[in-house]
Amino acid sequence: MLVLGIETSCDETGVALYDSSAGLLADALHSQVDLHALYGGVVPELASRDHVQRLLPLLREVLERSRRTVRDVDLVAFTQGPGLGGALLVGASVAAGVALALGKPAVGIHHLEGHLLSPLLAEPAPQFPFVALLVSGGHTQLMRVDAVGRYALLGETLDDAAGEAFDKTAQLLGLGYPGGPALAQLAEGGDGRRFELPRPMLGSGGLDFSFSGLKTAVLTRVKAMGKLDEGARRDLAASFQAAIVDVLVAKCVRALDREGLERLVVAGGVGANRLLRARLEAALAARGAQVHFPPLRLCTDNGAMIAFAAAVKYPAGAPEGVQDFAIFPRWDLASAAAQSTPRR
Ligand code: KG4
Ligand code: ZN
Repeated sequence: MLVLGIETSCDETGVALYDSSAGLLADALHSQVDLHALYGGVVPELASRDHVQRLLPLLREVLERSRRTVRDVDLVAFTQGPGLGGALLVGASVAAGVALALGKPAVGIHHLEGHLLSPLLAEPAPQFPFVALLVSGGHTQLMRVDAVGRYALLGETLDDAAGEAFDKTAQLLGLGYPGGPALAQLAEGGDGRRFELPRPMLGSGGLDFSFSGLKTAVLTRVKAMGKLDEGARRDLAASFQAAIVDVLVAKCVRALDREGLERLVVAGGVGANRLLRARLEAALAARGAQVHFPPLRLCTDNGAMIAFAAAVKYPAGAPEGVQDFAIFPRWDLASAAAQSTPRR
């Protein structure tokens, strides 16, 4: 079965072709980072317009690269939510159009389910059950994953997402958008112990997170110091990164303990962070557990995870027609998995 995957939930246009027997044939991505950098954040209207321009050229590209024609596609999968309404509509419309023209089914996929299952695209793929840490610009969640479609929320952020905290703190330090990778780079040569920053909710005993106070603590330091020299910026970046990584690592270990599991899977853009990777690897090795990261290019938004999620959710193909042509900008994964038809 050949699945076409389309991702347009935010600021990346992703298209991929996944074959259920041959694996991932091709995936193509266009990042809108340069488009939004000028504004210091994603401008939804510009995002939608750019998806309109990029989607069909990317579709042509993956077809050419995998030496297939659009008529070979058996199933069209698109990100149905959560995300920016206008951006989601672009992917949903193209998916429905292609499916109707071909007389093939189209199915909507939950963006986070795409992230959750993306580690299974790696070799070797992690076995079920596992704990998943989803850390992106919009989400920070710990989930228990028992099988495809069986997800239980263990904890989540009560305010900012981890990636959002990275981006906002980067902005305070005068770095561009998106600031996560830039902040991580600035932190490389810095002293992460120079500034004492809070580890929010570390002692709460639970699995929820809160990152807005950490960002405020950085703001207070920046204001108190006035003009920051290069060394202070580096050390502040390193201290922030150390604080957020401490919290993420501690909660992952706690989640594994509580669930009695020994496998952790990390997904989402912040999963690209080198310190987080190294610290998780060390912490889990020390307790005989394993951590899996998807390949770096699959950590961030992409079409491959959407095609793959559809392939594993509909192994025998989807029901005919366009399933529920709608988008759900706010949509929680647990309810999506529990229902066959999502609610608005
Ligand atoms: O999953 P993703 O591509 O998009 C969604 O938000 O769905 O995640 C993007 C987020 C941004 O906040 C970005 O700053 C962050 O991931 N990020 C990083 C790193 N690379 C990307 N944060 C910290 N360190 C990194 N190396
Ligand atoms: Zn994402």
